[in-house]
Amino acid sequence: MVLGTLALLAASALTTPPEATRAAGTRPCDIYATAGTPCVAAHSTARALFGSYNGPLYQVQRVSDGATSAIGVLAPGGYANAAAQDSFCSGTTCVITVVYDQSSRHNDLTVAPAGGAGGADNPAPADALPVTVGGHPVYGISFSGVMGYRDNATDGVATGARPEGMYMVTSGTHYNDRCCFDYGNAETNNLDTGNGHMDAIYFGTLCWFSPCNGSGPWVMADLENGLFQSNAGGSTNGSYTGDRSPYVTAVLKNNGTNYFAVKAGNAQSGALATRYAGPLPTSRPGYSPMQKEGAIILGIGGDNSNGAIGSFFEGAMTSGLPTDAAEAAVQASVVAAGYGGPSPVPAGTLTAGSTLSLRATTPGYTDRFIRHQAGNAVTSIITSSSPALDKADGSWIVRRGLADPSCVSFESRNYPGDFLRHYNFRVYRQPMDGTAIFRADATFCPRPGRSGTGTSLASYNYPTRYLRHYDNTLFIASNGGPNPFDNAASWAADVSWTVSPPWTA
Ligand code: AHR
Ligand code: AHR
Ligand code: AHR
Repeated sequence: MVLGTLALLAASALTTPPEATRAAGTRPCDIYATAGTPCVAAHSTARALFGSYNGPLYQVQRVSDGATSAIGVLAPGGYANAAAQDSFCSGTTCVITVVYDQSSRHNDLTVAPAGGAGGADNPAPADALPVTVGGHPVYGISFSGVMGYRDNATDGVATGARPEGMYMVTSGTHYNDRCCFDYGNAETNNLDTGNGHMDAIYFGTLCWFSPCNGSGPWVMADLENGLFQSNAGGSTNGSYTGDRSPYVTAVLKNNGTNYFAVKAGNAQSGALATRYAGPLPTSRPGYSPMQKEGAIILGIGGDNSNGAIGSFFEGAMTSGLPTDAAEAAVQASVVAAGYGGPSPVPAGTLTAGSTLSLRATTPGYTDRFIRHQAGNAVTSIITSSSPALDKADGSWIVRRGLADPSCVSFESRNYPGDFLRHYNFRVYRQPMDGTAIFRADATFCPRPGRSGTGTSLASYNYPTRYLRHYDNTLFIASNGGPNPFDNAASWAADVSWTVSPPWTA
Protein backbone atom coordinates (compact mmCIF):
# COMPACT_ATOMS: atom_id res chain seq x y z
CA MET A 1 0.00 0.00 0.00
CA VAL A 2 2.72 2.44 1.06
CA LEU A 3 4.82 1.32 -1.87
CA GLY A 4 1.85 1.80 -4.18
CA THR A 5 1.34 5.38 -2.94
CA LEU A 6 5.03 6.13 -3.40
CA ALA A 7 4.92 4.69 -6.89
CA LEU A 8 1.90 6.86 -7.70
CA LEU A 9 3.64 9.94 -6.28
CA ALA A 10 6.77 9.14 -8.25
CA ALA A 11 4.74 8.63 -11.41
CA SER A 12 2.90 11.92 -10.94
CA ALA A 13 6.20 13.73 -10.30
CA LEU A 14 7.41 12.38 -13.62
CA THR A 15 4.32 13.41 -15.53
CA THR A 16 3.70 16.77 -13.82
CA PRO A 17 4.97 19.44 -16.20
CA PRO A 18 7.73 21.43 -14.51
CA GLU A 19 5.91 24.71 -14.91
CA ALA A 20 3.06 23.48 -12.69
CA THR A 21 5.44 23.71 -9.75
CA ARG A 22 5.76 27.45 -10.35
CA ALA A 23 2.15 28.37 -9.66
CA ALA A 24 2.72 30.61 -6.62
CA GLY A 25 2.71 34.36 -7.22
CA THR A 26 0.89 36.96 -9.21
CA ARG A 27 2.99 37.33 -12.34
CA PRO A 28 1.36 36.51 -15.70
CA CYS A 29 2.76 32.97 -15.87
CA ASP A 30 1.71 32.25 -12.27
CA ILE A 31 -1.81 33.27 -13.28
CA TYR A 32 -1.86 31.10 -16.40
CA ALA A 33 -0.50 28.12 -14.41
CA THR A 34 -3.13 28.46 -11.68
CA ALA A 35 -5.79 28.49 -14.40
CA GLY A 36 -4.44 25.22 -15.83
CA THR A 37 -2.88 26.72 -18.96
CA PRO A 38 0.80 27.02 -18.03
CA CYS A 39 3.30 29.16 -19.92
CA VAL A 40 5.52 27.20 -22.27
CA ALA A 41 7.39 30.35 -23.26
CA ALA A 42 7.90 33.62 -21.38
CA HIS A 43 10.02 36.44 -22.80
CA SER A 44 10.81 39.87 -21.44
CA THR A 45 13.74 42.26 -21.20
CA ALA A 46 11.84 44.20 -18.52
CA ARG A 47 10.79 41.83 -15.74
CA ALA A 48 10.25 38.31 -14.48
CA LEU A 49 6.98 36.76 -15.65
CA PHE A 50 7.01 34.13 -12.85
CA GLY A 51 7.02 35.21 -9.20
CA SER A 52 9.87 32.80 -8.52
CA TYR A 53 11.99 33.49 -11.62
CA ASN A 54 15.57 34.29 -10.75
CA GLY A 55 17.46 33.58 -14.01
CA PRO A 56 18.69 35.57 -16.99
CA LEU A 57 16.20 37.69 -18.97
CA TYR A 58 18.30 38.46 -22.04
CA GLN A 59 21.83 38.49 -23.37
CA VAL A 60 23.63 41.56 -24.67
CA GLN A 61 26.71 41.60 -26.88
CA ARG A 62 29.23 44.42 -27.06
CA VAL A 63 29.95 45.66 -30.58
CA SER A 64 33.51 46.64 -29.56
CA ASP A 65 34.87 43.21 -28.62
CA GLY A 66 32.02 40.72 -29.15
CA ALA A 67 31.84 39.85 -25.44
CA THR A 68 28.42 38.82 -24.12
CA SER A 69 26.70 39.17 -20.77
CA ALA A 70 23.42 37.79 -19.43
CA ILE A 71 21.19 40.41 -17.84
CA GLY A 72 19.13 39.06 -14.97
CA VAL A 73 16.65 40.31 -12.41
CA LEU A 74 17.24 42.52 -9.37
CA ALA A 75 15.48 39.96 -7.14
CA PRO A 76 13.47 36.74 -7.71
CA GLY A 77 10.31 37.66 -9.63
CA GLY A 78 11.62 41.21 -10.04
CA TYR A 79 12.68 43.76 -12.61
CA ALA A 80 15.58 43.63 -15.05
CA ASN A 81 18.99 44.71 -13.82
CA ALA A 82 19.42 47.48 -16.39
CA ALA A 83 22.37 48.90 -14.46
CA ALA A 84 24.30 45.71 -15.24
CA GLN A 85 23.72 46.36 -18.95
CA ASP A 86 24.74 50.02 -18.64
CA SER A 87 27.97 49.06 -16.94
CA PHE A 88 28.83 46.20 -19.33
CA CYS A 89 28.04 48.38 -22.38
CA SER A 90 29.65 51.56 -21.10
CA GLY A 91 31.68 53.28 -23.81
CA THR A 92 30.43 51.08 -26.64
CA THR A 93 27.09 49.95 -28.07
CA CYS A 94 25.42 46.64 -27.27
CA VAL A 95 22.89 44.58 -29.19
CA ILE A 96 20.43 42.01 -27.83
CA THR A 97 21.50 38.55 -28.97
CA VAL A 98 19.22 36.27 -26.89
CA VAL A 99 15.85 36.72 -25.20
CA TYR A 100 15.72 33.88 -22.70
CA ASP A 101 12.64 31.79 -22.06
CA GLN A 102 11.75 32.08 -18.39
CA SER A 103 9.70 28.88 -18.47
CA SER A 104 11.60 25.66 -17.89
CA ARG A 105 11.18 24.80 -21.59
CA HIS A 106 14.29 26.72 -22.73
CA ASN A 107 12.47 28.22 -25.70
CA ASP A 108 15.06 30.97 -25.99
CA LEU A 109 14.86 33.40 -28.90
CA THR A 110 17.97 34.18 -30.93
CA VAL A 111 18.51 36.44 -33.93
CA ALA A 112 16.38 35.10 -36.79
CA PRO A 113 17.98 33.54 -39.87
CA ALA A 114 17.05 34.29 -43.48
CA GLY A 115 13.65 33.06 -44.62
CA GLY A 116 11.41 32.92 -47.64
CA ALA A 117 10.79 36.66 -47.60
CA GLY A 118 13.81 38.30 -46.04
CA GLY A 119 17.53 37.92 -45.46
CA ALA A 120 19.01 37.19 -42.05
CA ASP A 121 17.94 39.64 -39.38
CA ASN A 122 20.02 41.97 -37.28
CA PRO A 123 19.96 42.03 -33.50
CA ALA A 124 18.14 45.01 -31.97
CA PRO A 125 20.19 47.66 -30.19
CA ALA A 126 20.12 47.08 -26.45
CA ASP A 127 19.61 50.65 -25.22
CA ALA A 128 17.15 52.00 -27.77
CA LEU A 129 14.01 51.79 -25.63
CA PRO A 130 14.68 52.98 -22.08
CA VAL A 131 11.49 52.93 -20.00
CA THR A 132 10.54 52.30 -16.40
CA VAL A 133 8.47 49.54 -14.88
CA GLY A 134 7.41 49.92 -11.27
CA GLY A 135 9.70 52.94 -11.19
CA HIS A 136 12.77 50.86 -12.13
CA PRO A 137 14.71 51.73 -15.29
CA VAL A 138 14.61 48.86 -17.80
CA TYR A 139 14.99 48.48 -21.56
CA GLY A 140 12.31 47.28 -23.96
CA ILE A 141 13.29 46.01 -27.42
CA SER A 142 12.95 48.52 -30.25
CA PHE A 143 12.68 46.89 -33.68
CA SER A 144 13.50 49.24 -36.56
CA GLY A 145 13.20 46.85 -39.50
CA VAL A 146 15.37 43.91 -40.60
CA MET A 147 15.39 42.89 -36.95
CA GLY A 148 13.83 39.78 -35.47
CA TYR A 149 14.19 36.77 -33.22
CA ARG A 150 13.16 33.15 -33.61
CA ASP A 151 13.28 29.64 -32.15
CA ASN A 152 12.56 26.84 -34.63
CA ALA A 153 13.15 23.94 -32.22
CA THR A 154 10.82 24.52 -29.30
CA ASP A 155 9.53 22.37 -26.47
CA GLY A 156 5.89 22.29 -25.39
CA VAL A 157 4.56 24.88 -27.89
CA ALA A 158 1.28 23.93 -29.60
CA THR A 159 1.48 22.05 -32.88
CA GLY A 160 -1.27 20.92 -35.27
CA ALA A 161 -4.72 21.76 -33.94
CA ARG A 162 -3.67 22.00 -30.28
CA PRO A 163 -5.01 24.99 -28.31
CA GLU A 164 -2.85 27.85 -27.05
CA GLY A 165 -3.01 31.44 -25.88
CA MET A 166 -0.52 34.29 -25.81
CA TYR A 167 -0.09 37.95 -24.94
CA MET A 168 2.47 40.67 -25.45
CA VAL A 169 3.01 44.20 -24.21
CA THR A 170 3.90 46.49 -27.14
CA SER A 171 3.59 50.20 -27.92
CA GLY A 172 0.80 52.01 -29.78
CA THR A 173 3.21 54.75 -30.84
CA HIS A 174 5.80 52.74 -32.80
CA TYR A 175 4.50 50.67 -35.71
CA ASN A 176 4.22 50.63 -39.47
CA ASP A 177 2.31 48.99 -42.29
CA ARG A 178 4.95 46.49 -43.31
CA CYS A 179 4.86 42.75 -42.72
CA CYS A 180 4.92 41.73 -39.88
CA PHE A 181 5.47 42.75 -36.26
CA ASP A 182 4.47 39.41 -34.73
CA TYR A 183 4.90 37.44 -31.52
CA GLY A 184 3.80 33.85 -31.45
CA ASN A 185 3.64 30.51 -33.24
CA ALA A 186 5.11 30.12 -36.74
CA GLU A 187 6.75 27.79 -39.21
CA THR A 188 9.83 25.85 -38.21
CA ASN A 189 11.56 26.33 -41.60
CA ASN A 190 11.33 30.15 -42.04
CA LEU A 191 9.04 29.67 -45.06
CA ASP A 192 5.38 30.34 -45.79
CA THR A 193 4.11 26.76 -45.67
CA GLY A 194 0.46 27.68 -46.08
CA ASN A 195 -2.76 28.82 -44.46
CA GLY A 196 -3.13 27.91 -40.80
CA HIS A 197 0.57 27.24 -40.23
CA MET A 198 0.89 30.29 -37.96
CA ASP A 199 -0.87 31.50 -34.84
CA ALA A 200 0.79 34.77 -33.82
CA ILE A 201 -0.21 38.17 -32.49
CA TYR A 202 0.32 40.93 -35.08
CA PHE A 203 0.44 44.65 -34.21
CA GLY A 204 0.59 47.48 -36.75
CA THR A 205 -1.27 49.16 -39.61
CA LEU A 206 -0.94 46.54 -42.33
CA CYS A 207 -4.59 46.12 -43.34
CA TRP A 208 -4.53 42.73 -45.05
CA PHE A 209 -8.29 42.29 -45.47
CA SER A 210 -10.85 45.08 -45.76
CA PRO A 211 -12.33 46.61 -43.84
CA CYS A 212 -9.97 47.94 -41.20
CA ASN A 213 -11.78 50.65 -39.25
CA GLY A 214 -10.10 53.89 -38.27
CA SER A 215 -6.37 54.37 -38.69
CA GLY A 216 -5.04 51.64 -36.38
CA PRO A 217 -2.66 50.25 -35.28
CA TRP A 218 -4.65 47.07 -34.78
CA VAL A 219 -4.06 43.84 -32.91
CA MET A 220 -4.72 41.03 -35.38
CA ALA A 221 -4.17 37.29 -35.68
CA ASP A 222 -1.44 36.30 -38.12
CA LEU A 223 -2.69 32.85 -39.15
CA GLU A 224 -0.42 32.82 -42.25
CA ASN A 225 -1.30 34.42 -45.55
CA GLY A 226 -3.45 36.87 -43.69
CA LEU A 227 -3.78 39.17 -40.71
CA PHE A 228 -7.25 38.41 -39.39
CA GLN A 229 -9.55 40.73 -37.47
CA SER A 230 -12.35 38.14 -37.66
CA ASN A 231 -13.20 34.87 -39.36
CA ALA A 232 -14.16 36.97 -42.40
CA GLY A 233 -10.66 38.45 -42.53
CA GLY A 234 -11.50 42.14 -42.21
CA SER A 235 -13.03 43.72 -39.15
CA THR A 236 -16.58 42.93 -38.09
CA ASN A 237 -16.22 45.31 -35.15
CA GLY A 238 -17.10 48.89 -36.15
CA SER A 239 -15.91 50.29 -32.85
CA TYR A 240 -12.37 48.90 -33.18
CA THR A 241 -10.36 51.76 -34.68
CA GLY A 242 -6.97 50.85 -33.19
CA ASP A 243 -4.91 50.81 -30.01
CA ARG A 244 -2.77 53.93 -29.71
CA SER A 245 -1.86 54.02 -26.05
CA PRO A 246 1.87 54.22 -25.22
CA TYR A 247 1.75 50.67 -23.87
CA VAL A 248 -0.67 48.16 -25.37
CA THR A 249 -1.54 44.67 -24.09
CA ALA A 250 -2.30 42.43 -27.09
CA VAL A 251 -3.90 39.02 -26.58
CA LEU A 252 -4.66 36.10 -28.89
CA LYS A 253 -6.01 32.63 -28.26
CA ASN A 254 -6.86 29.87 -30.69
CA ASN A 255 -8.32 26.45 -29.86
CA GLY A 256 -7.00 24.98 -33.09
CA THR A 257 -10.29 23.66 -34.40
CA ASN A 258 -13.08 26.24 -34.51
CA TYR A 259 -12.46 29.28 -32.31
CA PHE A 260 -10.08 32.22 -31.91
CA ALA A 261 -10.21 35.49 -30.01
CA VAL A 262 -8.31 38.78 -30.20
CA LYS A 263 -8.26 41.19 -27.26
CA ALA A 264 -6.43 44.43 -26.54
CA GLY A 265 -6.15 47.01 -23.82
CA ASN A 266 -4.14 49.87 -22.40
CA ALA A 267 -1.26 48.21 -20.55
CA GLN A 268 -1.19 51.09 -18.04
CA SER A 269 -4.84 51.01 -16.96
CA GLY A 270 -8.22 49.37 -17.31
CA ALA A 271 -9.37 46.05 -18.71
CA LEU A 272 -8.97 44.20 -21.98
CA ALA A 273 -11.57 44.68 -24.70
CA THR A 274 -12.51 41.76 -26.89
CA ARG A 275 -11.95 42.84 -30.51
CA TYR A 276 -13.15 39.52 -31.90
CA ALA A 277 -14.17 36.15 -30.50
CA GLY A 278 -15.71 33.48 -32.69
CA PRO A 279 -15.11 30.87 -35.36
CA LEU A 280 -11.84 30.37 -37.20
CA PRO A 281 -11.95 31.33 -40.89
CA THR A 282 -13.71 28.72 -42.99
CA SER A 283 -14.23 30.58 -46.27
CA ARG A 284 -10.55 30.06 -47.01
CA PRO A 285 -9.02 26.60 -46.67
CA GLY A 286 -6.44 25.57 -44.10
CA TYR A 287 -7.39 27.50 -40.96
CA SER A 288 -9.97 25.14 -39.49
CA PRO A 289 -8.45 22.95 -38.22
CA MET A 290 -5.16 24.77 -37.71
CA GLN A 291 -1.79 23.29 -38.69
CA LYS A 292 0.47 24.97 -36.15
CA GLU A 293 4.16 24.18 -36.41
CA GLY A 294 5.37 25.39 -33.02
CA ALA A 295 8.27 27.72 -33.80
CA ILE A 296 8.29 31.08 -32.00
CA ILE A 297 8.87 34.41 -33.78
CA LEU A 298 9.31 37.94 -32.49
CA GLY A 299 9.31 41.05 -34.70
CA ILE A 300 8.95 39.26 -38.05
CA GLY A 301 6.47 37.26 -40.10
CA GLY A 302 6.42 33.48 -40.41
CA ASP A 303 8.46 33.57 -43.62
CA ASN A 304 10.80 36.15 -42.05
CA SER A 305 9.11 39.11 -43.72
CA ASN A 306 11.13 41.73 -41.85
CA GLY A 307 9.97 45.18 -42.89
CA ALA A 308 8.03 45.90 -39.73
CA ILE A 309 8.96 48.11 -36.80
CA GLY A 310 7.62 47.86 -33.27
CA SER A 311 8.32 47.69 -29.55
CA PHE A 312 8.33 44.66 -27.26
CA PHE A 313 8.40 44.64 -23.48
CA GLU A 314 7.08 41.22 -22.45
CA GLY A 315 5.08 38.27 -23.75
CA ALA A 316 4.21 34.67 -23.02
CA MET A 317 2.62 31.65 -24.72
CA THR A 318 0.56 28.95 -23.01
CA SER A 319 -0.26 25.32 -23.39
CA GLY A 320 -4.06 25.10 -23.57
CA LEU A 321 -6.71 27.74 -24.19
CA PRO A 322 -6.62 30.33 -21.38
CA THR A 323 -9.87 31.33 -19.73
CA ASP A 324 -11.17 34.88 -20.07
CA ALA A 325 -10.69 35.20 -16.30
CA ALA A 326 -7.00 34.27 -16.60
CA GLU A 327 -6.52 36.82 -19.38
CA ALA A 328 -8.23 39.51 -17.32
CA ALA A 329 -5.93 38.69 -14.40
CA VAL A 330 -2.86 38.84 -16.68
CA GLN A 331 -3.93 42.32 -17.80
CA ALA A 332 -4.33 43.34 -14.14
CA SER A 333 -0.82 42.02 -13.44
CA VAL A 334 0.60 44.02 -16.37
CA VAL A 335 -1.17 47.19 -15.18
CA ALA A 336 0.08 46.61 -11.62
CA ALA A 337 3.65 46.23 -12.91
CA GLY A 338 3.45 49.92 -13.84
CA TYR A 339 5.00 50.58 -17.23
CA GLY A 340 5.95 54.22 -17.77
CA GLY A 341 8.96 56.41 -18.18
CA PRO A 342 10.45 58.25 -21.08
CA SER A 343 9.00 56.13 -23.88
CA PRO A 344 7.51 56.67 -26.36
CA VAL A 345 9.44 59.21 -28.36
CA PRO A 346 7.66 61.31 -30.96
CA ALA A 347 8.96 60.82 -34.50
CA GLY A 348 10.77 63.72 -36.10
CA THR A 349 12.47 64.98 -32.96
CA LEU A 350 16.11 64.97 -31.89
CA THR A 351 15.24 62.66 -29.00
CA ALA A 352 16.96 59.29 -28.70
CA GLY A 353 14.70 56.61 -30.14
CA SER A 354 12.96 58.94 -32.57
CA THR A 355 13.26 58.46 -36.33
CA LEU A 356 13.71 61.61 -38.43
CA SER A 357 14.83 63.11 -41.69
CA LEU A 358 17.12 66.16 -41.91
CA ARG A 359 16.27 68.77 -44.55
CA ALA A 360 18.64 71.40 -45.92
CA THR A 361 17.68 75.03 -45.34
CA THR A 362 19.97 76.73 -47.89
CA PRO A 363 17.78 78.64 -50.38
CA GLY A 364 17.56 76.59 -53.57
CA TYR A 365 18.29 73.33 -51.73
CA THR A 366 15.35 73.05 -49.35
CA ASP A 367 13.96 69.99 -51.14
CA ARG A 368 17.12 68.04 -50.22
CA PHE A 369 17.58 65.65 -47.30
CA ILE A 370 20.60 63.94 -45.78
CA ARG A 371 20.75 60.42 -47.15
CA HIS A 372 23.38 57.77 -47.67
CA GLN A 373 24.22 56.51 -51.13
CA ALA A 374 26.87 53.82 -51.76
CA GLY A 375 28.14 54.43 -48.24
CA ASN A 376 28.62 58.18 -48.75
CA ALA A 377 26.53 60.79 -46.96
CA VAL A 378 25.05 63.24 -49.48
CA THR A 379 21.89 65.26 -49.96
CA SER A 380 19.16 64.19 -52.38
CA ILE A 381 15.84 65.58 -53.42
CA ILE A 382 13.25 63.38 -51.72
CA THR A 383 9.52 63.82 -52.19
CA SER A 384 6.47 61.78 -51.29
CA SER A 385 6.69 60.10 -54.70
CA SER A 386 10.37 59.13 -54.35
CA PRO A 387 11.23 55.42 -54.40
CA ALA A 388 11.02 53.65 -51.03
CA LEU A 389 14.78 53.11 -51.10
CA ASP A 390 15.53 56.85 -51.29
CA LYS A 391 13.10 57.46 -48.43
CA ALA A 392 14.72 54.79 -46.25
CA ASP A 393 18.22 56.04 -47.14
CA GLY A 394 17.05 59.48 -46.02
CA SER A 395 15.72 58.36 -42.62
CA TRP A 396 17.78 58.14 -39.43
CA ILE A 397 17.18 56.86 -35.95
CA VAL A 398 18.42 59.21 -33.25
CA ARG A 399 20.62 57.49 -30.67
CA ARG A 400 22.24 58.77 -27.53
CA GLY A 401 25.62 60.10 -28.62
CA LEU A 402 28.05 57.20 -28.92
CA ALA A 403 30.80 59.31 -27.33
CA ASP A 404 28.67 61.58 -25.15
CA PRO A 405 25.10 60.83 -24.08
CA SER A 406 24.24 64.53 -24.00
CA CYS A 407 24.84 64.66 -27.79
CA VAL A 408 23.36 62.41 -30.49
CA SER A 409 24.35 59.86 -33.11
CA PHE A 410 22.40 58.94 -36.24
CA GLU A 411 21.80 55.28 -37.00
CA SER A 412 20.77 54.37 -40.54
CA ARG A 413 17.11 53.45 -40.80
CA ASN A 414 17.74 50.68 -43.34
CA TYR A 415 21.26 49.65 -42.29
CA PRO A 416 20.85 49.01 -38.56
CA GLY A 417 24.16 49.26 -36.74
CA ASP A 418 25.54 51.73 -39.32
CA PHE A 419 25.96 55.35 -38.29
CA LEU A 420 26.79 58.70 -39.84
CA ARG A 421 30.47 59.38 -39.11
CA HIS A 422 33.14 61.69 -40.49
CA TYR A 423 36.53 60.59 -41.76
CA ASN A 424 39.03 63.07 -43.20
CA PHE A 425 36.16 65.55 -42.66
CA ARG A 426 33.90 63.77 -45.16
CA VAL A 427 30.79 62.02 -43.85
CA TYR A 428 29.90 58.38 -44.47
CA ARG A 429 27.50 55.66 -43.37
CA GLN A 430 29.60 52.99 -41.72
CA PRO A 431 29.11 50.11 -39.26
CA MET A 432 29.78 51.05 -35.66
CA ASP A 433 33.06 49.27 -34.82
CA GLY A 434 33.18 50.13 -31.13
CA THR A 435 36.42 52.07 -31.32
CA ALA A 436 36.81 55.35 -29.48
CA ILE A 437 37.58 57.17 -32.73
CA PHE A 438 34.41 55.86 -34.41
CA ARG A 439 32.30 56.86 -31.44
CA ALA A 440 33.75 60.35 -31.49
CA ASP A 441 33.45 60.69 -35.28
CA ALA A 442 29.80 59.58 -35.07
CA THR A 443 28.75 61.97 -32.30
CA PHE A 444 27.16 65.34 -33.05
CA CYS A 445 26.05 67.95 -30.55
CA PRO A 446 22.86 69.84 -31.45
CA ARG A 447 23.05 73.64 -31.36
CA PRO A 448 20.65 76.37 -32.48
CA GLY A 449 20.91 76.77 -36.26
CA ARG A 450 23.93 78.94 -37.13
CA SER A 451 21.83 80.80 -39.70
CA GLY A 452 19.15 81.55 -37.12
CA THR A 453 16.98 78.79 -38.49
CA GLY A 454 16.69 75.10 -37.51
CA THR A 455 19.40 73.05 -35.85
CA SER A 456 23.14 72.78 -36.38
CA LEU A 457 25.14 69.69 -35.46
CA ALA A 458 28.61 70.32 -34.10
CA SER A 459 31.16 67.54 -34.45
CA TYR A 460 31.95 66.11 -31.02
CA ASN A 461 35.70 65.84 -31.64
CA TYR A 462 36.03 68.91 -33.89
CA PRO A 463 33.61 71.20 -32.06
CA THR A 464 34.11 74.18 -34.38
CA ARG A 465 33.15 72.01 -37.37
CA TYR A 466 29.50 71.41 -38.19
CA LEU A 467 27.63 68.93 -40.38
CA ARG A 468 27.46 70.72 -43.73
CA HIS A 469 26.39 70.03 -47.29
CA TYR A 470 28.74 71.34 -49.95
CA ASP A 471 28.30 70.34 -53.58
CA ASN A 472 25.46 68.19 -52.19
CA THR A 473 28.02 66.12 -50.26
CA LEU A 474 28.27 65.96 -46.45
CA PHE A 475 31.32 67.23 -44.56
CA ILE A 476 32.17 68.55 -41.15
CA ALA A 477 33.14 72.08 -42.06
CA SER A 478 34.46 75.16 -40.35
CA ASN A 479 33.36 78.68 -41.20
CA GLY A 480 36.27 79.50 -43.49
CA GLY A 481 39.38 77.36 -43.72
CA PRO A 482 41.80 75.46 -45.91
CA ASN A 483 39.37 73.13 -47.66
CA PRO A 484 36.89 74.03 -50.40
CA PHE A 485 34.09 72.73 -48.15
CA ASP A 486 35.13 75.22 -45.45
CA ASN A 487 34.13 78.06 -47.80
CA ALA A 488 32.51 80.80 -45.72
CA ALA A 489 30.00 81.59 -48.47
CA SER A 490 26.63 80.14 -47.46
CA TRP A 491 28.30 78.22 -44.56
CA ALA A 492 25.69 79.31 -42.01
CA ALA A 493 22.80 78.15 -44.17
CA ASP A 494 24.59 74.92 -45.23
CA VAL A 495 25.10 73.89 -41.57
CA SER A 496 21.49 74.62 -40.53
CA TRP A 497 19.02 71.76 -40.85
CA THR A 498 15.31 71.32 -40.36
CA VAL A 499 14.50 68.31 -38.17
CA SER A 500 11.60 66.69 -40.03
CA PRO A 501 9.29 63.69 -39.71
CA PRO A 502 11.01 60.63 -41.18
CA TRP A 503 10.39 59.67 -44.80
CA THR A 504 10.41 56.07 -43.54
CA ALA A 505 8.95 55.75 -40.04
O1 AHR B 1 0.17 36.16 -42.78
C1 AHR B 1 0.93 37.29 -43.02
C2 AHR B 1 2.31 36.95 -43.49
O2 AHR B 1 2.27 36.35 -44.75
C3 AHR B 1 3.09 35.96 -42.68
O3 AHR B 1 3.62 36.46 -41.48
C4 AHR B 1 4.17 35.61 -43.61
O4 AHR B 1 4.71 34.33 -43.38
C5 AHR B 1 3.49 35.68 -44.98
O5 AHR B 1 4.25 36.47 -45.84
O1 AHR C 1 37.25 63.49 -40.06
C1 AHR C 1 38.40 63.89 -39.33
C2 AHR C 1 39.20 62.70 -38.84
O2 AHR C 1 39.65 61.92 -39.95
C3 AHR C 1 38.46 61.68 -38.03
O3 AHR C 1 38.34 62.05 -36.67
C4 AHR C 1 39.32 60.45 -38.16
O4 AHR C 1 38.54 59.28 -38.14
C5 AHR C 1 39.99 60.60 -39.54
O5 AHR C 1 41.37 60.53 -39.40
O1 AHR D 1 25.59 71.57 -51.20
C1 AHR D 1 25.05 72.48 -52.12
C2 AHR D 1 25.83 73.76 -52.22
O2 AHR D 1 27.16 73.50 -52.65
C3 AHR D 1 26.04 74.52 -50.95
O3 AHR D 1 24.91 75.24 -50.56
C4 AHR D 1 27.17 75.44 -51.33
O4 AHR D 1 27.93 75.83 -50.21
C5 AHR D 1 28.00 74.62 -52.30
O5 AHR D 1 28.22 75.35 -53.47
